[in-house]
Amino acid sequence: QLTTLTTLASLRAELRQLRQQGQTIALVPTMGNLHAGHLRLVEEAKRHADKVIATIFVNPLQFGPDEDFASYPRTLADDQAQLASVGCDFLFAPSVDEVYPHGQQQLTKVCVPQVSEGLCSAKRPGHFDGVATVVTKLFNMVQPDIACFGQKDYQQLAVIRKLTEDLSFPIQIIGVPTCRSAEGLALSSRNAYLTEKERERAPKLYATLQAIALKLQEGKLNYHELTYQARAKLAELGFSPEYVEIRALDLSPALATTQEWVILAAARMGKARLIDNLIVKKH
Ligand code: PAJ
Repeated sequence: QLTTLTTLASLRAELRQLRQQGQTIALVPTMGNLHAGHLRLVEEAKRHADKVIATIFVNPLQFGPDEDFASYPRTLADDQAQLASVGCDFLFAPSVDEVYPHGQQQLTKVCVPQVSEGLCSAKRPGHFDGVATVVTKLFNMVQPDIACFGQKDYQQLAVIRKLTEDLSFPIQIIGVPTCRSAEGLALSSRNAYLTEKERERAPKLYATLQAIALKLQEGKLNYHELTYQARAKLAELGFSPEYVEIRALDLSPALATTQEWVILAAARMGKARLIDNLIVKKH
């Protein structure tokens, strides 16, 4: 049975009890409009702790002024049913005022250098500071033993790993593989913005990453050429590509000697901004 809490005071009261009983706690932060990818995080969390706390909070701090904060899909009742169906124990779904009672202007913020730069932040300046700040607050609110995040948001996961290390949070961060549709499209709440026609073409983003992966494995290491061709291909397929990049797994630049790469891409299709990535190992 799922217990929903909306205030920090009620969350802390529950947590105090759980801790007294010696229960370990896993945290799964989300912005709601849940899909199978989110549920996979909950299932993974259950394997690592006695109790799972999911959070749903559409965090204004991580949305740019021209982004979809106001229109982001909010589907609480459906989300609660989905969480209950996979045995999630608690849902913390606070209001914006509960999380930012003194507003957002004068707030203490968390900024994670290097990994926050480039890739998604080029088109979304300040986005990862917003993510790092809210995740830090959620870590302090819940004080979990472990926390699960999706590999779909590869740069976000890198930011969270670094802030956990740098701020000495005693929390184990678990990265969970990307959940995809049968056609290969990474599940995302923002896929809801796609028209039926766009939805049919959207899996080509992942297919383009797979094509690069094959070339890397064949020993074609001209990174610039590969990503240039991929962007041209995506444009041809009806995407507006933001970036396609090949990096080392820690997001440092890929070198001639790199043996394991992550290929990352972001592209717009209609109203949706899609991101995806693929890890490739040298044969
Ligand atoms: P949201 O986009 O709701 O995603 C919540 C979590 O689900 C993230 O860890 C994300 O990587 C993971 N996720 C999303 N789609 C997935 C998929 N197809 N397969 C596997 N995991 C997937 O990411 C956020 O919210 C926010 O930035 C948040 C971390 C909650 C901070 O506000």
